[in-house]
Amino acid sequence: MLKENVDLKPMTTFRIGGKARWFAEPESASELGELLNRAERQGMDLRILGGGSNLLVGEAGYEGLVVRLSRTGEFNSIEEAPDQPGCWKVGASAPLPLLVKTVLSAGWTGLEELAGIPGSVGGALVMNAGTASLGIGDFVHSVTLMDRSGTVRTVDRSELDFSYRHSGIGDALALWTELRFSQRVEAPDLLEQMRQRRARKAASQPIDMASAGCVFKNPPAGPAGLLLDRADCKGMREGGAEVSGLHANFIVNLGGATAMDVATLIGKMRCAVRERFSVELELEIKTWFLDAAETAVLSGETQ
Ligand code: EPU
Repeated sequence: MLKENVDLKPMTTFRIGGKARWFAEPESASELGELLNRAERQGMDLRILGGGSNLLVGEAGYEGLVVRLSRTGEFNSIEEAPDQPGCWKVGASAPLPLLVKTVLSAGWTGLEELAGIPGSVGGALVMNAGTASLGIGDFVHSVTLMDRSGTVRTVDRSELDFSYRHSGIGDALALWTELRFSQRVEAPDLLEQMRQRRARKAASQPIDMASAGCVFKNPPAGPAGLLLDRADCKGMREGGAEVSGLHANFIVNLGGATAMDVATLIGKMRCAVRERFSVELELEIKTWFLDAAETAVLSGETQ
């Protein structure tokens, strides 16, 4: 069940990162529970990887265990309850784009806003992925979670705390969710809307390049992309990493970018916005296993 020395780079959309000493892809809740127990017994540190689309992984790698829910098995279901129209049970390893397409094809409206967002449903839930005004959490009825000791429980949305890029799920593992939709329209219209949104996205975001999506959250002062653009960040380059010319809140890997290149660029972007607008940008992407030097440049204080 455990693999050793597994390269995490191809599992991230940034295509950056080192190796995990241990790696596992459990297919069921019981397998996952066993892994958690084993990690606890052996004092192994453990991280959960979703679709890897919002993550910067350091090359230093990791001595612990990385777990990614298998895309075959119990966690990849996308099913509408036969006796409850509009009620969908979805597994955390299902790809978010597939969920969007499946629900829209059945005529339920809501998720078209999420068209074009990569990643897994689990990752999307944990960070409440979405647009500036809407997230997947808006459709959540309940989430089935496993805590780090292996206990499974289903929590109602009222026990969670969905807000902008926040879910309240914390360090528990999302296994399944129940989503509810109430409005039905003609599926062809919804699919056309989805295609249009994706086309708009392709015109304003570098979706065909290796990146981790928006680097920073939008601060109260305005969209981070707008502030970074006005602070002349587009085209800034560090090694193989560049601030996208299409959208200033994206860093793209031109090929061979290192975590240090990206961390340095992040620091420079923060610094530019701080100097120009006195605004502190907060990271939207998660960082794993950065070393002390990479962590130091990330803040933009040392530029
Ligand atoms: N803008 C610029 N220059 C840029 C980028 C943006 O002037 O380089 C301006 C735009 O013209 C627009 C405003 O900033 O007036 C907002 O831009 P956009 O519509 O692209 O939205 P956003 O706030 O930058 C948010 C999410 C995106 C999501 C889009 C979809 C955040 C941080 N970003 O972007 O999410 O795709 O809405 O509408 O909330 C992600 O989370 O990874 C992500 C990309």
